[in-house]
This record gives sequence, C-alpha cells and structure tokens, in this order.
Amino acid sequence: MRPPRRGTVLIVDDEDGPRHSLKIIFADEYDVLMASDGKAAVELAQQHKIDVAILDIRMTGMSGIEVLERLKYVDPSIEAIMMTAFETTDTLRQALRLRACDYINKPFDVASMRAAVSNAMQRRALESEIHSDAEKLDTLMAELQNQRIEDQMTQTRGEIYASIIHDLNGPLTVISGFVHLMNQRIGPSTHLEVEDLQFIKDRLKTITRQATNCIEISKRYLGFLRGRSDDAPRVAVNQLLADLGHLIRVHPSIRENEFLIEPFSDDLAVRMNGTDLTQVLLNLTVNAFQASTVPHTVKISGAALGHPLDLTTFKDGPEDRVINVENFENSPPLVQVQVRDTGPGIPPEVLPKIFQPYFTTKGGRNGTGLGLNIVQRLIREAKGILHVHTRPGEGTTFTVYLPASPLKPV
Ligand SMILES: Nc1ncnc2c1ncn2[C@@H]1O[C@H](COP(=O)(O)OP(=O)(O)OP(=O)(O)O)[C@@H](O)[C@H]1O
Ligand SMILES: [Mg+2]
Repeated sequence: MRPPRRGTVLIVDDEDGPRHSLKIIFADEYDVLMASDGKAAVELAQQHKIDVAILDIRMTGMSGIEVLERLKYVDPSIEAIMMTAFETTDTLRQALRLRACDYINKPFDVASMRAAVSNAMQRRALESEIHSDAEKLDTLMAELQNQRIEDQMTQTRGEIYASIIHDLNGPLTVISGFVHLMNQRIGPSTHLEVEDLQFIKDRLKTITRQATNCIEISKRYLGFLRGRSDDAPRVAVNQLLADLGHLIRVHPSIRENEFLIEPFSDDLAVRMNGTDLTQVLLNLTVNAFQASTVPHTVKISGAALGHPLDLTTFKDGPEDRVINVENFENSPPLVQVQVRDTGPGIPPEVLPKIFQPYFTTKGGRNGTGLGLNIVQRLIREAKGILHVHTRPGEGTTFTVYLPASPLKPV
C-alpha cells in the first residue's frame, strides 16, 4: 500500500522570525512551504496542493484576510488558521466569514499552534474522504444509470426487431399470395389474354402498395432505433379506412367471415403516422377474424366526436380493458374507430394478459403474441386511448380514440 501523503502546510508571514520558527515546528511532520507576502502565497497555492495555511493577518501589502480570500478562491478546501495580534472583532468576523477554521494569538505558543494545525489537518482529511466518497457514489450512480439505459436499449431493440418481423409479415403474406395467384393464372401459357393482363395488372398494383408498406414499416422502425421521429404526422382517416378495406379483402385470414367497413361522413385527420394507424387496425381486424374458426362478422366503423370523452367511464373490469387514459389528449375533435366482431369474446382470466408481449392463445406457430402489444404502443405514442369491451359468447369490440383535426384548416 502507498504510505499516506504527508500533509502540506503553507506559512504566510512577512516577518522572518515567526515564519522560520513555524517551519522548524512542522518540518518533521509535514511538507512546509513558505511565503513572505500574499502574491507568493497565491502562486504557491496554484502550484501545490495545500492542506493547511497559517496566515498572519497583519502584513504589509496584501493583508492576511485578502490572502485568505484568494487562497479560498484557488482551492476552497484549504483550511486556514489566522494569526492575530490586536485585531478588532470585525477583522476576526471577516476571517470567519471567509471560512478560516481557527485563530491563534501572536506571539503563539507552540502547543496551541500544533493542536490547531493537527485539527485542521484532520478536518481536511475527513473532508477529502467525504468528497471522494461522494465522487465514488456519483460514478457508481452514473454507471448504474448507463447500465440501466443500455439494458433498456437492448430490451427495446429486441422487441423492435421482433415487431419489425411481425409487422412485415402482414404485407409479405399478401405479396406472396398474389404472386402465387398470378403464377397460377399464367400457368404454362406462352401468351396472355386481355383479361389475364388486367388480372395481373390489378394484382401488381396491390403488390406495389404492399411493397411500399414494407418499406414504410422498416423506415419507421429504423427511425425509432435512431431516436428520430417525423414531426407532427397527419393522416386522413376515411382515405385510410378505404385503403385498409382493399387490403383486408385480399387478406388470407378473412376466410369465410363477413367483413364490413363503414367510414364516417365528415372526414378528419388524426395526428398519427398512416402506416402506424393501418398497422393498428390491421392487427385488430386480423385478430377479429382469427377469434374463431366458425364464420362470424367483423365490422370496422369510424365516427367523429365533437365533444371530449367522459374519462371516468373508462375503467378496467372483467369485460373491459383501457389503455392510456392517463395520457389521452382529450380535446375535440376526436376520432373513434371501432373493430367489432361477433366471435366468442375473451374470457375474463385471459383479458388482463392480452397486451403482454408474446402472450398468445393461438399456440405453436399461429401467433407471436406481439400484435396487441404493438397496437397499444402505437396508440400510446399517438396519445390516444385503446378500449376493449368483450363479452364471452357475444363478441369483442376494440375502440381506438385519437386526437384529431379538421382535414382542411379553416
Ligand atoms: N377479437 C378477439 N377475440 C378474441 N380474442 C382475442 C381477440 N383479439 C385478441 N385476442 C386474444 O388476445 C391474444 C393476443 O393477441 P395478439 O394480437 O397480441 O397476439 P396473437 O394474435 O395471438 O399473435 P399475432 O398477433 O402475432 O398473430 C390472442 O392470442 C387472443 O387470445
Ligand atoms: Mg394478433
């Protein structure tokens, strides 16, 4: 172990006699520096780490009080002992205000001087110990915080990658289904009839739209990973519902189910990215189709609300679950979009779990359990509310509420 550092004492006195006797007293125990005026004292403090300074108050040129002030300016943790002769209480008070730790009458007696320096040294050691402990604590806290952020980032990254795969799956299913259909249509033929060409053109349009969707999805997630987001996105809800209708009518999960879509009369824009809202509604609709293998009805409907919501009515219960009431921007106009199914409903013991990541009742490779987790994240980001009302045997309704604005500014 390194031997503890010897303390350093700075003696500042314009008289040779006391300066030298002080040096003799402390040379064995401490490193001693000497200055015969304030300027030299300040220079020494700038060059060395001083623990205790002994200052004569009455000096020609810079007074001891002024030197004290400047030394404290160089290093506030220097402990100072003032040597006084016949000072007024005012001067002493001033020294105390400048945080001198002690004063000794001049001419001093050796025992008191030793005791004063030893006390000051102890206080200095204690203070620097506290200071370095506080620094260690700060470093430790900073490390912990960094670690926590890193952990969160890794976790979020993992979730984001899983979400990208989940979200890309929808459009890619449509694309591969359409390519398959076109292959079937063309078959081994060497030339195309007009209606074949039209069929292929139509399918290619959808494929192009879905490919654009894939690019949008990956852009959105990559933007999120880089911590960037487009500011104030807006999307017209009715146009989006119409596009969604096209997408859903060709989606494989529709099977034998009846599908209805009901836009609303006065169109509004919501402050949400179009791909995000499509993703929300597509996830809810696919879930509604998948609620049962028995054919049932799924209906999407939109409404514009001109009044704020009564948030007290939004409560979790055996048949209800509400997400993000606490951060909802409840100022009209609002848009309400519902995805309602006449499926089997969600049992009360399952309901509290449906938004958890990776929770699925679909088993095996049929569900990742990420859909609703992504939906609730997107709704939270858009400062909306997501409400589920379900009744076993009757069906389930997912309602999204979003802050909106008129489509064309008036
Ligand atoms: N409309 C609904 N009717 C009945 N149950 C539903 C409905 N929507 C969701 N659920 C239940 O919530 C669970 C979680 O849904 P979520 O969309 O998160 O995952 P998933 O659909 O199982 O998997 P993935 O979305 O990856 O295909 C479902 O497994 C299902 O049990
Ligand atoms: Mg799902």
